[in-house]
Amino acid sequence: MASSPYQVLCVCLGNICRSPTAEIVLKHYVKLAGLAVEIDSAGTSNYHPHKAPDVRTQRVARARGYDLSHLRARQICREDYDQFDLILAMDEANLSDLHWKVSNLVQQGELDETVLDRLALMSEHDPKFPRQAVPDPYFGQASDFERVIDQCESAAQAWIDYWQSNPKILRRQS
Ligand code: 4NP
Repeated sequence: MASSPYQVLCVCLGNICRSPTAEIVLKHYVKLAGLAVEIDSAGTSNYHPHKAPDVRTQRVARARGYDLSHLRARQICREDYDQFDLILAMDEANLSDLHWKVSNLVQQGELDETVLDRLALMSEHDPKFPRQAVPDPYFGQASDFERVIDQCESAAQAWIDYWQSNPKILRRQS
C-alpha cells in the first residue's frame, strides 16, 4: 500500500490574513525539516472568496522572505474534513466554529466522530504562546500583523519539533 503525505489545513475566519500566513510559514519549516507534510488553508467564512491575501499580511510576510501572492481565499468545505489529518484553528472562535460544523455533520451521519480529534489550535505546542490565540489583525495595526507572523513562526517550529519527536503521527496509508 502506498503512503501519502500527512495533510494539514490551517483555518482562520477570512483566509486572507492568519491562515495563509500559517500555511506558508509551516510549508517553509516543513521543507527545511525534510518532512512529508502537505499544507493548505481555508476560512470558516466565505467573506473573501478567491481573494489574494490582505496587502498588509503580504507586506509583513515579504519582509521576512515569504511570498503569499499566489494564494487565494476559500471557505472550508465538507470534503476537507475527510481529506485533512489535522485542522489547525488560529483562535478559539475558529476552533468552536469547526467543532460545531463537524458535530452537525457527525449527527447527520455524514462524518465519523473521530474527525473531532483532528481539530487543534495552531498554538497547541507553542512554548512561547502556549494554546494562545493567533489574534485577528484585520481591524488592527502594523504591529498586529507582525504578531501574527511571530506566532506563526513559533507555532510552526513547535509542530515540527512535535512531529520529529513523534514520527509515527505522520505515517498514513492511502
Ligand atoms: P483572518 O482575518 O481571519 O485572519 O483572515 C480576517 C479577515 C477578514 C475579516 C475578518 C478577519 N472580515 O471581517 O472581513
